[in-house]
Amino acid sequence: MTVVSSKKILEEALRGGYAVGAFNTSTLEATKAIINAAAKLASPVIIETSEGEFNFLDSNIIFDQVKDLSDEYGVTVALHLDHGKSLETVKKAVEARYTSVHIDASNLSYQENIELTQKVAEFAHKKNISVEGELGHISGSSEKHSEKIEINLSNLTDPGLAKEFVKETGIDILAVSIGNIHGVYTNPPELDLGRLERISKVKIPLSLHGGSGIPENQIKMAVKLGIAKVNVNTELRMAYAGELREELKAHPKEIVPYKILPEVIEEIEKVVENKIKLFGSEGKG
Ligand code: G3H
Ligand code: ZN
Repeated sequence: MTVVSSKKILEEALRGGYAVGAFNTSTLEATKAIINAAAKLASPVIIETSEGEFNFLDSNIIFDQVKDLSDEYGVTVALHLDHGKSLETVKKAVEARYTSVHIDASNLSYQENIELTQKVAEFAHKKNISVEGELGHISGSSEKHSEKIEINLSNLTDPGLAKEFVKETGIDILAVSIGNIHGVYTNPPELDLGRLERISKVKIPLSLHGGSGIPENQIKMAVKLGIAKVNVNTELRMAYAGELREELKAHPKEIVPYKILPEVIEEIEKVVENKIKLFGSEGKG
């Protein structure tokens, strides 16, 4: 197996009526857990890093880690830049041999978003790298929040602009804002599925960010309406930090990393396995 473009994985998913998980990593433990879960369930998978995660990881070795693990366990994987904010960041990811990039120009005006996304697509496509653009803005950070979700309606994707945005920019994947938000809140989000249905006329794979904390039935309906990629970060972070705290509390004298971390990997793996089953990509690898 090898590291492929996410366009290849996601077009197959869209045709097959399932979605593929895009899981964030910032440690070798999380990377291992994601690959282990995908191998166990014979699922394709996308491994992604935000700008912060990318900067924390050694960008020279992340590709080799992902490639070696995917080769060893026979997993089809894409390595994706998540929420890249500039062409410079995209170039750094391409240099680090990423096979897919998300350019998030959703905080700019519609016209500026088109221009920057177009530039990125032109640059990346020459190197056979897939490009995800974002129309509408997905707010929040990948953390456990103690307040209720507040969705700003003006941030939602305008279905009337989606076709033009896809055509003008030449993107392969479209990230949508339909009531999804980054992080886990005290109340679950409510996806605007009618809006999603109208957006899905663009006929390219759609990406649902903020995959943590969305009720399972809503995810299933969204996949039926064209969501081919679901991003998950917060729930993996919660598994990592939660289990690490438990382990250190249960064994306060333990200092050996390889005795502490297997349980942490296992907890992340469980989350990834559940998501793979929910998204329907089991056995599609
Ligand atoms: O881009 C990353 C994702 O959208 C993660 O969202 O932290 O709510 O799972 P999440
Ligand atoms: Zn996101």
